Amino acid sequence: MDYRVLDIDKKLMQETIKARENAYAPISNFRVGAAILTESDEIIVGANVEISSFSPTSCAERNAIFSYFSGGGRHFTKIAICGDDDNTFPCGVCRQVIYELSPEAIVFIVNEDSSYKVFNIRELLPNGFRYEL
Ligand code: THU
Repeated sequence: MDYRVLDIDKKLMQETIKARENAYAPISNFRVGAAILTESDEIIVGANVEISSFSPTSCAERNAIFSYFSGGGRHFTKIAICGDDDNTFPCGVCRQVIYELSPEAIVFIVNEDSSYKVFNIRELLPNGFRYEL
């Protein structure tokens, strides 16, 4: 999508790259960091956490978003993601969570060398389902 990156976006992307260092990924060894930008320009980070019985494993994106929501936050506008592979995109479940909680979210797919791609969540989850709450 056409988008002019702001200084705060660059900061968000740098925080995402740093957040990846906090990943707890002893099973896959695939580290992911995420960071969301809130309505008040606060940055909340998350990293993936893996559990041996697999299903409790939690993605970086959801850890960041749920951390914000469980602290009482409700409005974020942007999310950045950085994984061990170049161009690590959010999984299907995280796309649903992002869309449901921020249907106009801008999504930055960030690489360790600071290169990035920009999307709207609607491009990543076409015809998504959500209740109009
Ligand atoms: N993972 C994320 O944290 N976010 C994604 O969007 C893709 C996958 C994590 C889950 C798991 O810990 C590891 O990456 C490998 O799937």
